[in-house]
Amino acid sequence: MVVLAGPKVKPEEQAGEYRHIGVTRYGPALGAVIDGVDLSQDFDDEVIAEIRKALLENLVIFFRDQEMTPEQHLAFARRFGTLNQHDQVKGMEEYPDIIEVRKEADDERNFGGAWHGDVTYLEEPPLGSILYAKEVPPIGGDTLWSNCYLAFEQLSSGMREMLDGKMVIHTPALIYGVASRDWSKDSSMDSHPNETAHYETEHPLIRTHPETGRKCLYVSGAYTPRLKDMTEEESAPLLDFLMTHLTREPFTCRWRWQAGDVAFWDNRCTLHYALNDYSGYRRIMHRVTINGDRPY
Ligand SMILES: [Fe+2]
Repeated sequence: MVVLAGPKVKPEEQAGEYRHIGVTRYGPALGAVIDGVDLSQDFDDEVIAEIRKALLENLVIFFRDQEMTPEQHLAFARRFGTLNQHDQVKGMEEYPDIIEVRKEADDERNFGGAWHGDVTYLEEPPLGSILYAKEVPPIGGDTLWSNCYLAFEQLSSGMREMLDGKMVIHTPALIYGVASRDWSKDSSMDSHPNETAHYETEHPLIRTHPETGRKCLYVSGAYTPRLKDMTEEESAPLLDFLMTHLTREPFTCRWRWQAGDVAFWDNRCTLHYALNDYSGYRRIMHRVTINGDRPY
Protein backbone atom coordinates (compact mmCIF):
# COMPACT_ATOMS: atom_id res chain seq x y z
CA MET A 1 0.00 0.00 0.00
CA VAL A 2 1.27 3.44 -0.91
CA VAL A 3 1.12 5.86 2.00
CA LEU A 4 0.44 9.35 0.75
CA ALA A 5 1.94 12.32 2.51
CA GLY A 6 -0.75 14.45 4.11
CA PRO A 7 -1.61 17.56 2.16
CA LYS A 8 -0.21 20.78 3.58
CA VAL A 9 -3.39 22.27 4.94
CA LYS A 10 -3.08 25.77 6.28
CA PRO A 11 -5.75 26.96 8.67
CA GLU A 12 -8.21 29.02 6.68
CA GLU A 13 -7.89 32.79 6.90
CA GLN A 14 -8.24 33.87 10.50
CA ALA A 15 -11.64 35.16 11.40
CA GLY A 16 -12.24 38.80 10.55
CA GLU A 17 -13.61 41.30 13.00
CA TYR A 18 -16.87 40.66 14.75
CA ARG A 19 -18.66 43.19 16.91
CA HIS A 20 -21.74 41.22 17.95
CA ILE A 21 -20.74 37.56 18.13
CA GLY A 22 -17.79 35.50 19.37
CA VAL A 23 -16.16 33.32 16.70
CA THR A 24 -13.63 30.67 17.75
CA ARG A 25 -12.03 28.37 15.18
CA TYR A 26 -12.95 24.74 15.80
CA GLY A 27 -10.97 22.70 13.25
CA PRO A 28 -7.95 23.67 11.16
CA ALA A 29 -9.77 22.78 7.95
CA LEU A 30 -13.21 24.17 8.77
CA GLY A 31 -15.66 24.90 11.58
CA ALA A 32 -16.10 27.58 14.23
CA VAL A 33 -18.00 27.85 17.50
CA ILE A 34 -20.19 30.94 17.83
CA ASP A 35 -20.71 32.46 21.27
CA GLY A 36 -22.93 35.19 22.61
CA VAL A 37 -25.94 34.23 20.51
CA ASP A 38 -29.34 33.02 21.71
CA LEU A 39 -31.04 31.62 18.63
CA SER A 40 -34.50 31.92 20.17
CA GLN A 41 -34.18 35.71 19.85
CA ASP A 42 -34.95 37.92 16.91
CA PHE A 43 -31.76 39.54 15.59
CA ASP A 44 -31.15 42.82 13.85
CA ASP A 45 -29.60 42.74 10.39
CA GLU A 46 -26.08 43.44 11.66
CA VAL A 47 -26.03 40.27 13.77
CA ILE A 48 -27.40 38.19 10.91
CA ALA A 49 -24.73 39.67 8.61
CA GLU A 50 -22.03 38.61 11.09
CA ILE A 51 -23.43 35.08 11.38
CA ARG A 52 -23.46 34.88 7.58
CA LYS A 53 -19.87 36.10 7.46
CA ALA A 54 -18.88 33.48 10.06
CA LEU A 55 -20.58 30.80 7.95
CA LEU A 56 -18.82 31.90 4.76
CA GLU A 57 -15.42 32.01 6.49
CA ASN A 58 -15.75 28.77 8.45
CA LEU A 59 -18.19 26.67 6.31
CA VAL A 60 -19.86 25.10 9.34
CA ILE A 61 -20.66 26.99 12.53
CA PHE A 62 -21.75 25.56 15.87
CA PHE A 63 -23.90 27.09 18.62
CA ARG A 64 -24.04 25.44 22.03
CA ASP A 65 -26.74 25.27 24.72
CA GLN A 66 -29.62 26.53 22.61
CA GLU A 67 -33.31 26.31 23.42
CA MET A 68 -35.50 26.96 20.41
CA THR A 69 -39.10 26.23 19.61
CA PRO A 70 -39.77 24.95 16.08
CA GLU A 71 -41.14 28.42 15.23
CA GLN A 72 -37.92 30.08 16.43
CA HIS A 73 -35.81 27.58 14.48
CA LEU A 74 -37.79 28.38 11.33
CA ALA A 75 -37.66 32.13 11.95
CA PHE A 76 -33.86 32.05 12.34
CA ALA A 77 -33.44 30.04 9.13
CA ARG A 78 -35.70 32.41 7.17
CA ARG A 79 -33.25 35.24 7.83
CA PHE A 80 -30.91 33.51 5.36
CA GLY A 81 -33.36 32.66 2.59
CA THR A 82 -36.53 30.80 1.68
CA LEU A 83 -36.97 27.32 3.13
CA ASN A 84 -36.76 24.01 1.32
CA GLN A 85 -39.13 21.07 1.75
CA HIS A 86 -37.34 17.78 1.09
CA ASP A 87 -38.86 16.18 -2.01
CA GLN A 88 -38.32 12.61 -0.76
CA VAL A 89 -38.68 12.78 3.03
CA LYS A 90 -41.86 14.04 4.67
CA GLY A 91 -41.50 16.94 7.08
CA MET A 92 -43.10 17.14 10.52
CA GLU A 93 -46.89 17.08 10.52
CA GLU A 94 -47.23 20.50 12.13
CA TYR A 95 -44.04 21.95 10.61
CA PRO A 96 -43.57 20.66 7.07
CA ASP A 97 -40.39 22.76 6.68
CA ILE A 98 -38.71 20.80 9.48
CA ILE A 99 -37.44 17.26 8.96
CA GLU A 100 -37.27 15.29 12.16
CA VAL A 101 -34.12 13.21 11.81
CA ARG A 102 -35.07 10.40 14.16
CA LYS A 103 -33.27 7.15 14.89
CA GLU A 104 -34.84 4.89 17.49
CA ALA A 105 -32.84 2.46 19.62
CA ASP A 106 -33.75 -0.50 17.41
CA ASP A 107 -33.50 1.24 14.01
CA GLU A 108 -30.74 -0.17 11.84
CA ARG A 109 -30.38 2.58 9.33
CA ASN A 110 -29.53 6.23 9.96
CA PHE A 111 -30.29 9.28 7.84
CA GLY A 112 -27.22 10.80 6.21
CA GLY A 113 -24.96 7.83 6.94
CA ALA A 114 -22.57 8.36 4.02
CA TRP A 115 -20.62 11.34 2.71
CA HIS A 116 -22.93 13.67 0.75
CA GLY A 117 -24.21 17.20 0.26
CA ASP A 118 -27.91 17.66 0.97
CA VAL A 119 -30.32 17.25 -1.99
CA THR A 120 -27.66 18.34 -4.50
CA TYR A 121 -29.84 16.81 -7.22
CA LEU A 122 -32.18 19.82 -7.15
CA GLU A 123 -31.87 22.39 -9.95
CA GLU A 124 -31.13 24.88 -7.20
CA PRO A 125 -29.55 22.92 -4.35
CA PRO A 126 -29.64 24.32 -0.82
CA LEU A 127 -27.51 27.13 0.54
CA GLY A 128 -27.30 25.22 3.79
CA SER A 129 -29.03 23.44 6.63
CA ILE A 130 -29.51 24.24 10.31
CA LEU A 131 -29.54 21.10 12.43
CA TYR A 132 -30.69 21.25 16.06
CA ALA A 133 -29.90 18.38 18.45
CA LYS A 134 -32.94 17.48 20.56
CA GLU A 135 -31.89 14.13 21.98
CA VAL A 136 -28.50 12.49 21.52
CA PRO A 137 -26.88 9.20 22.56
CA PRO A 138 -24.40 9.24 25.48
CA ILE A 139 -21.60 8.49 23.03
CA GLY A 140 -21.57 8.15 19.25
CA GLY A 141 -23.71 9.83 16.61
CA ASP A 142 -21.04 12.40 15.70
CA THR A 143 -21.23 14.26 12.40
CA LEU A 144 -18.24 14.97 10.14
CA TRP A 145 -17.92 17.77 7.59
CA SER A 146 -15.33 18.27 4.86
CA ASN A 147 -14.04 21.40 3.14
CA CYS A 148 -14.57 21.12 -0.63
CA TYR A 149 -12.53 24.28 -1.36
CA LEU A 150 -9.44 22.76 0.24
CA ALA A 151 -9.97 19.48 -1.58
CA PHE A 152 -10.10 21.36 -4.89
CA GLU A 153 -7.06 23.49 -4.07
CA GLN A 154 -5.02 20.41 -3.09
CA LEU A 155 -5.44 18.75 -6.49
CA SER A 156 -2.54 19.01 -8.92
CA SER A 157 -2.75 21.67 -11.61
CA GLY A 158 -2.97 18.93 -14.23
CA MET A 159 -5.93 17.32 -12.50
CA ARG A 160 -7.71 20.66 -12.04
CA GLU A 161 -7.21 21.39 -15.73
CA MET A 162 -8.58 17.98 -16.71
CA LEU A 163 -11.69 18.44 -14.57
CA ASP A 164 -12.36 21.99 -15.73
CA GLY A 165 -15.68 22.29 -17.56
CA LYS A 166 -16.86 18.74 -16.72
CA MET A 167 -20.50 18.29 -15.75
CA VAL A 168 -21.82 15.72 -13.25
CA ILE A 169 -25.22 14.03 -13.20
CA HIS A 170 -27.05 14.30 -9.86
CA THR A 171 -30.10 12.18 -8.99
CA PRO A 172 -32.01 11.00 -5.91
CA ALA A 173 -32.69 7.63 -7.62
CA LEU A 174 -30.12 5.47 -5.84
CA ILE A 175 -31.24 6.54 -2.37
CA TYR A 176 -34.97 7.12 -2.90
CA GLY A 177 -35.86 5.38 -6.20
CA VAL A 178 -37.85 2.20 -6.76
CA ALA A 179 -34.82 -0.10 -6.47
CA SER A 180 -33.53 1.46 -3.24
CA ARG A 181 -34.00 0.08 0.26
CA ASP A 182 -37.30 1.01 1.88
CA TRP A 183 -36.54 3.46 4.68
CA SER A 184 -39.76 2.52 6.48
CA LYS A 185 -38.49 -1.03 7.10
CA ASP A 186 -35.38 -0.25 9.12
CA SER A 187 -35.58 3.40 10.09
CA SER A 188 -37.93 5.96 11.57
CA MET A 189 -37.71 8.31 8.58
CA ASP A 190 -40.90 8.91 6.61
CA SER A 191 -39.73 7.98 3.11
CA HIS A 192 -40.57 5.19 0.65
CA PRO A 193 -39.05 4.05 -2.66
CA ASN A 194 -40.89 5.84 -5.45
CA GLU A 195 -40.90 6.75 -9.15
CA THR A 196 -40.61 10.49 -8.56
CA ALA A 197 -36.98 9.98 -7.50
CA HIS A 198 -35.98 9.00 -11.04
CA TYR A 199 -34.94 12.36 -12.40
CA GLU A 200 -31.54 13.78 -13.18
CA THR A 201 -29.93 17.20 -13.00
CA GLU A 202 -26.50 18.29 -14.17
CA HIS A 203 -24.15 20.57 -12.27
CA PRO A 204 -20.53 21.60 -12.86
CA LEU A 205 -17.91 19.38 -11.23
CA ILE A 206 -16.00 22.49 -10.22
CA ARG A 207 -18.38 25.00 -8.76
CA THR A 208 -17.83 28.69 -8.02
CA HIS A 209 -19.33 29.72 -4.70
CA PRO A 210 -21.83 32.51 -5.41
CA GLU A 211 -20.87 34.53 -2.31
CA THR A 212 -17.13 33.94 -1.82
CA GLY A 213 -16.20 33.53 -5.50
CA ARG A 214 -13.95 30.60 -4.53
CA LYS A 215 -13.91 27.37 -6.53
CA CYS A 216 -14.66 24.00 -4.98
CA LEU A 217 -15.26 20.39 -5.97
CA TYR A 218 -18.94 19.54 -6.27
CA VAL A 219 -19.54 15.78 -6.07
CA SER A 220 -22.10 14.24 -3.73
CA GLY A 221 -21.65 10.53 -3.04
CA ALA A 222 -24.56 8.35 -4.13
CA TYR A 223 -26.38 11.38 -5.58
CA THR A 224 -23.70 11.62 -8.30
CA PRO A 225 -23.52 8.29 -10.19
CA ARG A 226 -21.70 9.53 -13.32
CA LEU A 227 -20.25 12.33 -15.36
CA LYS A 228 -22.29 13.78 -18.19
CA ASP A 229 -21.83 11.89 -21.50
CA MET A 230 -20.08 9.00 -19.74
CA THR A 231 -21.24 5.63 -18.39
CA GLU A 232 -21.27 4.83 -14.68
CA GLU A 233 -18.50 2.32 -15.25
CA GLU A 234 -16.35 4.88 -17.02
CA SER A 235 -17.06 7.52 -14.38
CA ALA A 236 -16.50 5.32 -11.32
CA PRO A 237 -12.68 5.51 -11.05
CA LEU A 238 -12.71 9.31 -11.22
CA LEU A 239 -15.73 9.83 -8.95
CA ASP A 240 -14.40 7.29 -6.43
CA PHE A 241 -11.07 9.10 -6.38
CA LEU A 242 -12.75 12.49 -5.93
CA MET A 243 -14.97 11.27 -3.06
CA THR A 244 -11.97 9.68 -1.33
CA HIS A 245 -9.96 12.85 -1.86
CA LEU A 246 -12.79 15.15 -0.71
CA THR A 247 -13.13 13.27 2.56
CA ARG A 248 -9.46 12.86 3.50
CA GLU A 249 -9.07 13.50 7.22
CA PRO A 250 -7.07 16.75 6.94
CA PHE A 251 -10.00 18.33 5.08
CA THR A 252 -12.53 17.41 7.78
CA CYS A 253 -13.81 18.26 11.23
CA ARG A 254 -15.92 16.12 13.53
CA TRP A 255 -18.57 17.33 15.97
CA ARG A 256 -19.59 15.45 19.10
CA TRP A 257 -23.16 16.48 19.82
CA GLN A 258 -24.78 17.48 23.06
CA ALA A 259 -28.49 18.14 23.29
CA GLY A 260 -29.05 21.85 22.56
CA ASP A 261 -26.23 22.10 19.99
CA VAL A 262 -26.99 23.66 16.62
CA ALA A 263 -24.88 23.21 13.48
CA PHE A 264 -25.33 25.48 10.47
CA TRP A 265 -23.39 24.39 7.39
CA ASP A 266 -22.81 25.83 3.96
CA ASN A 267 -24.07 23.05 1.68
CA ARG A 268 -22.41 24.62 -1.38
CA CYS A 269 -18.81 23.96 -0.32
CA THR A 270 -18.98 21.13 2.24
CA LEU A 271 -19.93 17.47 2.43
CA HIS A 272 -21.04 15.77 5.64
CA TYR A 273 -21.46 12.32 7.12
CA ALA A 274 -23.64 11.26 10.08
CA LEU A 275 -22.06 8.31 11.89
CA ASN A 276 -24.26 5.32 12.66
CA ASP A 277 -22.45 3.97 15.74
CA TYR A 278 -24.97 4.30 18.57
CA SER A 279 -27.18 1.24 18.25
CA GLY A 280 -29.41 0.89 21.31
CA TYR A 281 -29.92 4.63 21.74
CA ARG A 282 -32.32 7.19 20.36
CA ARG A 283 -31.09 10.27 18.50
CA ILE A 284 -33.45 13.07 17.45
CA MET A 285 -32.49 16.16 15.46
CA HIS A 286 -34.52 18.87 13.74
CA ARG A 287 -33.30 20.00 10.35
CA VAL A 288 -34.33 23.13 8.47
CA THR A 289 -32.89 23.64 4.99
CA ILE A 290 -32.44 26.97 3.20
CA ASN A 291 -32.79 27.23 -0.57
CA GLY A 292 -29.79 28.13 -2.70
CA ASP A 293 -28.94 29.00 -6.30
CA ARG A 294 -28.22 27.08 -9.46
CA PRO A 295 -24.52 26.08 -9.36
CA TYR A 296 -22.16 27.59 -11.94
FE1 LIG B 1 -27.34 15.41 5.05
